[in-house]
Amino acid sequence: MKISFASLTLPETGALAAPVAKGRKLLASAAALDKATGGALKRAMAASRFKGEKDQLLEVLAPPKVKNSRIVLLGVGEAKDLGPLDAEKLGGALLSHLNGVGETHGALALDAAGGGKGETAGLAAHAAYGALLRSYRFDRYRTKEKPEKKPSLKSFDVLSDDPKAAKKHYGPLEKIAGGVFLTRDLVSEPANVIYPKSLVARAKALEKLGVKVSALGVAQMTKLGMGALLGVGQGSERESQLLVMEWTGAPKTRNKKPFAFVGKGVTFDTGGISIKPAGGMEDMKWDMGGAGVVIGVMRALAARKAKVNVVGVCGLVENMPSGTAQRPGDIVTSMSGQTIEVLNTDAEGRLVLADALWYAQEKFKPRAIVDLATLTGAIVVALGNEHAGLFANDDELSERLSAAGKAVGEPVWRLPLGEAYDKLIDSDAADMKNIGNRSGGSITAAQFLQRFVKKGTPWAHLDIAGVTWSSKDQPTVPKGGTAFGVRLLDRLIAEHYEG
Ligand code: BES
Ligand code: MN
Ligand code: ZN
Repeated sequence: MKISFASLTLPETGALAAPVAKGRKLLASAAALDKATGGALKRAMAASRFKGEKDQLLEVLAPPKVKNSRIVLLGVGEAKDLGPLDAEKLGGALLSHLNGVGETHGALALDAAGGGKGETAGLAAHAAYGALLRSYRFDRYRTKEKPEKKPSLKSFDVLSDDPKAAKKHYGPLEKIAGGVFLTRDLVSEPANVIYPKSLVARAKALEKLGVKVSALGVAQMTKLGMGALLGVGQGSERESQLLVMEWTGAPKTRNKKPFAFVGKGVTFDTGGISIKPAGGMEDMKWDMGGAGVVIGVMRALAARKAKVNVVGVCGLVENMPSGTAQRPGDIVTSMSGQTIEVLNTDAEGRLVLADALWYAQEKFKPRAIVDLATLTGAIVVALGNEHAGLFANDDELSERLSAAGKAVGEPVWRLPLGEAYDKLIDSDAADMKNIGNRSGGSITAAQFLQRFVKKGTPWAHLDIAGVTWSSKDQPTVPKGGTAFGVRLLDRLIAEHYEG
């Protein structure tokens, strides 16, 4: 499907969509269409429950006096409140509707902006971005899909009063979508395809964008003393890897210290010897979601040539039960020197991150760290599938993440850290144990991670277990892998760490 920008001259073929405000108030394009069709749109509205409220959609098929196959009225609520995220949802919902009804050519007349020209161009760009994000499909393995089940749209045009400016605004958004799509691909791939070494190979594709990509294998990690990460992978036939990606885009005179992203990349989590129940275990193919986001955001930053230095460090392991697997009760020594009693081999993400976090700090002395992990089922209990859990040792970083999440529609919710929680992971046999008691499971997991963050380094942890996979279609996110975090982190960097 080709997405383009054009002026507000209304095309006379294909589907044409136009916004309608609250109270059935036709905006300029819809009003013109109503006139051209001899009032067919107003009659259709009167015959329906369509009021122009947000998320409402009314379709008039083969409208009189015009050649368009259909006219789609899109409710926007108060027109002056229409922001970039609303425009994205509008574009995404329209794209999905048109693909569902078998339309081949669609155009959206975006004249709903409250403000001046520039603002309209931005909204047009975001409408196109929303459509693009929704157009994603993971259909690599559907070899027998009937053509009528496939998306029908060949072209999608966004019309505005300044198509040139809209196109320019769309440039970087399209690059971010490239990162989102890469992440969605990686989390959607099954674990027989994506395992530590094959994930490294996929990340290597970023080299052509100027990202330096390298990986440590078991021998090198053994030398570095990464007993926590290695213990998780020791039951698998697939060799564990530490993936390292470096993007150097900061201007010479600027802050050279890199920002660090650290990702949990458990390419399959059976639970190990503390094995998970069979039902739903297939979901654990996306237990590398944190690493997937780190790879995707590195791609987005490099593609749009972000003026910043960023490193991505991902611990990649497969958590399997076998004769060589780690046992409950085993004590491992992490790269930091701290010892860990592994009471539950299914609490493996924190073990992987412990060494990945330490390595990132030792090697890169980062100015700040954000780690991402599908870390706990408890975060799904607490926040459902709407917010990611946020933990931080630094209020400024926390607030920046919250604001960035709100701005891009990937919201995060902060949960507490504290000494009393930290105590819950003290062990009689070692420096710490890898599980707490039954309560506050996401918090004790975060406390565990914090023990591997050096004092003075701003750090935040995003528990994305509830938001990495969506069981339902959303306006800009088809069901499946969401890539939640890519847009958020790109925004965080763009707002605060670039230039
Ligand atoms: N990968 C899981 C967490 C998870 C659960 C991710 C559901 C996505 C959806 C993690 O490794 C895990 O198994 N955590 C355990 C920790 C427990 C043993 C302390 C959990 O949450 O049950
Ligand atoms: Mn687990
Ligand atoms: Zn896991």
